[in-house]
Amino acid sequence: MSDNKIHNMWAIPIGEFYNPEHKEIKNDLINFFKEYENSFPEGNLDRASKGSIENHDLYESKYNLHQQKNPAFEKLLRFVSQGFITMSNNSNKKIIEGMKEKPKFNVEITESWFIKYNKGGSVFPHNHGGSWSCVYYVQIGEDSSTKNGSTYFLRPYTPGGKIDFGSQTYSSELTAIMSGQEGKLIVWPSFLYHGSHPYSGEKNRIIVSANSKINLISN
Ligand SMILES: [Fe+2]
Repeated sequence: MSDNKIHNMWAIPIGEFYNPEHKEIKNDLINFFKEYENSFPEGNLDRASKGSIENHDLYESKYNLHQQKNPAFEKLLRFVSQGFITMSNNSNKKIIEGMKEKPKFNVEITESWFIKYNKGGSVFPHNHGGSWSCVYYVQIGEDSSTKNGSTYFLRPYTPGGKIDFGSQTYSSELTAIMSGQEGKLIVWPSFLYHGSHPYSGEKNRIIVSANSKINLISN
C-alpha cells in the first residue's frame, strides 16, 4: 500500500454568500445606521476615521454594534454567523469527521461595525483579530464592479523567481478582488490583509463588518 499523500496545508478560503432576506432588512439597517450616526456623530475615534489619510471620506461606527440590539441588525448577524460556521466547518472538515459525535458550535460575534463611505472613500490594507471576518454590502449602486467599490485581498506570501506553468496557480495573482453587491457577504480568515477600493457611485457605499470566534460547545 502506498503512503503517498498530498497535504493542502495553507490554502486560503474566501467564501461568498447571498442573503435571501436582504430586501426585507435593508431599509431598517440604513435607518438604524442613520440614528446611530446622529447619536454618535464622532464615530469610531479608535481608527480616527476623520482626517485620516489611510482611511478617508467615511463614517465608521464603534466596534460594538451588536450590543445595540437592533432587530434588523440581529437578523443580519444570524445570516453572517451562518457564513462563519460554514467556512469553519469547511476548513475543519477533517477534524470534524474524526469526532465521535456530531459537534455543536457557538458563533461568537466579538466585534461588529458599519462603515458609510462617501464618494471616493476608501480603507487601506489591514487585517483583523479573531478567526473569521467578513464584509456585508448593505448598499451599493448597480455600477459597482471590481474597479469600483470592491473589496480586495492581498496574497499572504511572496513567491520568488519566475512564474512557470507549475507555479502559476499560487504565484500569478497578487490580489483577489471581489466586487460589491447588495446582500452579498464575503468571509475570510481574519489574518488576511484586505482593503476597499474607492467607490465613485451616486449612492453611499454602506457595509457591515464583523469578527468572530467559533467555540466548540459539545461533541
Ligand atoms: Fe477590514
